[in-house]
Formats: sequence, C-alpha cells, structure tokens
Amino acid sequence: MPHIHLQERKAAQFPCRIGTSRFEFIATNVNHSQEQLIATEVEQKKFFLLLKNDAKRLIKSDKITRPSPTYLIHSALLDYVTLTDAEVLSSNVHSAEKNIHLQEDGALKPITFFTKNFPTDRDIHIEIGFGSGRHLVHQALEHPDVLFIGIEIHRPSIEQVLKQISIQHIDNLLLVDYDARLFMELVPSNSVSKIYVHFPVPWDKKPHRRVISKAFIEESIRVLNINGRLELRTDSENYYMYSYETLMSLRQLSLEIHKNRSIAISSKYEDRWRLMEKNIYDLTLINTEESPQRDLPRDFTFPENLYDPSRLEALNGTTSTFDEGFIHYERLYAIESGGMLLRLSCGSFERPEHLYLIFRDDTTIYFPQEPIATPTNYKVHQRLIKELHG
Ligand SMILES: C[S@@+](CC[C@H](N)C(=O)[O-])C[C@H]1O[C@@H](n2cnc3c(N)ncnc32)[C@H](O)[C@@H]1O
Repeated sequence: MPHIHLQERKAAQFPCRIGTSRFEFIATNVNHSQEQLIATEVEQKKFFLLLKNDAKRLIKSDKITRPSPTYLIHSALLDYVTLTDAEVLSSNVHSAEKNIHLQEDGALKPITFFTKNFPTDRDIHIEIGFGSGRHLVHQALEHPDVLFIGIEIHRPSIEQVLKQISIQHIDNLLLVDYDARLFMELVPSNSVSKIYVHFPVPWDKKPHRRVISKAFIEESIRVLNINGRLELRTDSENYYMYSYETLMSLRQLSLEIHKNRSIAISSKYEDRWRLMEKNIYDLTLINTEESPQRDLPRDFTFPENLYDPSRLEALNGTTSTFDEGFIHYERLYAIESGGMLLRLSCGSFERPEHLYLIFRDDTTIYFPQEPIATPTNYKVHQRLIKELHG
C-alpha cells in the first residue's frame, strides 16, 4: 500500500488544485483528532487520502474509497508533498507511472460498467476468486464465443491476469475488482450458464466470510439459465459438507457430486493440494428453474435538509438492525470548511458494504459515488433516510 511519512513545512489550503490532483476539503474525526481525511480527485476518480497525525505523520489512501489503478494514489500523494512543501521522512512512492495493463477502459472494468451495461449479447461464464487465473484464461481461450467475467478482490492476482489478457490478445474476458457476493445481485436473471467457485478460502473460523451462503446460492439460481451450472471445487471436506448442507436446506435441486475428478486444467491451488495428496471435492448445482427478471433500484438521492449535526452525533458509534441487515454508524468527521462526513458499514451481515456520506447545508450525498444499485443497498438507503430524520 503506497504511503509517505512526512513533515509538512506549509499548511495546505482547501480547495486547491496541484499537479494532476484536486484536493476538495479536509475533515477531522470527531473522536480521534489525529485522523483526518482529504477529499481528493485525480483523473475524475474521487477518493480520500488518510492522514495520521502521530509522531511520524503518515499519509496514504483510505481503504474504502481506494481507487484503481494504484498510480492515481501515487499521483495524489506526490502532489500533496508538493502542496505542503513537505520533508519526506520515508516513502514507498517514487513515481506515478501508469501501468498500461491496469487501465479500466481495457479488460478491467469498474463495477459501474456492469450496473449500466451488463453484457447480455453472449453466453456468460463467471469465475469467482480466480487467483492466478490459470483456469479462467484457459477457459476463455478454449471458448472464444463465450464472454467470461472474472471476479477477484486480490489486486496482484488481477494485475497478473490482465498481463495475460494483453499478451495473449484475449478479447472475451472481463475482470472486476469487487466482492463476488455483492456482484451477483447485479447480474440479470437467467443470463449465465456457468459459475465457477474453485478452491474458495474455507474461512473455518469466520464462516460468514465464505463466498457460498444461502443468499449466494439463491442469487446463483436466479442468474443461471436452465441447465446452467454452479461448480464448487474444494480440497476442504468441511467446506464441501457445509455447502452440501446449505444447498440441501433450500429446495428440490439437481446436484452432481464427484471426488478426485480430473478437469482440463488444474489451478495453482489444486496443484498444491494434489502434491499433498489431499482429496478434491466437486459439488455442482444444475439449475432447473426460470427466474423472474428483477429491476435494479435507481433512486439513491436524499431529500433536502437532512443535515442535523446533533442527530449525527447521537447516531455516531451506534448500530441499528432491520430485516436481513444493519447500519453501523462507524465514524463521524467535521469538515473544516463546514458540514460533516459520516462513515458507515451496512447491508446484510454476510456481505457488508462501507459507505461515506457528506452533509453540507441542505444537501446530503454519497462519496465518492452512489452505492451500487443492489436491492440490499436500496433497503439501506431508505432506512438511512428514516434514521437521519430522527
Ligand atoms: C484460495 S484462492 C483460490 C484461487 C484460484 N481459484 C485457484 O484455484 O488457484 C481464493 C481466491 O478467492 C478470492 N476471494 C476471496 N473472497 C472473495 C470474494 N468475496 N469475492 C471475490 N474473490 C474472492 C481470494 O482473493 C483468492 O484469490
């Protein structure tokens, strides 16, 4: 993660523009004054820089709004050093060079690409947690008529596969850096013929973090076309049993089960487990039902005059729960030039989201952009309006 330890020689004035960055405002955590966020924009991507004012002052990107590709963070950090004429004490940021493989106009798509134009003109296969991408790239090369969508949350794996896409001129593979459990809510019904989940992290101690859950299986059934397949491959007997029981608790289903089946290409993890002579379990769900189409919610705006500082202070640190979900009012910040900033974790317990809200005068907006238009996020949005009204 790019970061700089520094000592500023000049105070920054906001808003301002320097180099390729625009710094809009600075906000201070009302409970921990050493923590500040700077609203930043580079090449039309908005995010926060996080300042930690302890002995060795540190500046880095905020995790929730962290932009992709990483050179945007490098640019903003270096621009902040120039803006404050800072002495750099230590740093792992040396230049802000673009990595041509990481352009979001290539195979790597921002999540908004899928909310606005989910591709529906071709047969679609999805791989969740593709890791080294060996299976995904092999499949894409073998089936040029199919559009493959690879979902991963591990940046270095995404970068590795983007290089493969570019070197091998693959044009039927899109990647997205997003939590697969949330992504599934955006996929149109009956549009996918295969979903691969190969060697997911077993999360034996934190089962709520597993990709497979009741909600995930329901979403998979909805997005799969008739005879579409959800394929789980795992070395963990525990994960296999848990997935089998979750599937069986749902309804009448068509399943295929295999032990130590060989497939055309073995992934990096599979090679590792085979060397250790571990058993490999395959559990495949074959969809037999057509699902109704679902309209995604569109309106994520807030009514005017929702900004009430004392209400925000009362909510700060609290959690409210509602049907299938929760809102945790995690942190409150005072914006130096007026207004407040609220950080939330919210959504369903199995797949929480993190969001920021900016309150200024009579307007309330999400930062850096509205949440992804999933039904769960819409429930949270409506609930938020009620709770902010008090
Ligand atoms: C054990 S690795 C397996 C990688 C690959 N499928 C293989 O067989 O070599 C699991 C991968 O799933 C990714 N992952 C975990 N949770 C995820 C989620 N919720 N959404 C997308 N990817 C996820 C991890 O980053 C990791 O790369």
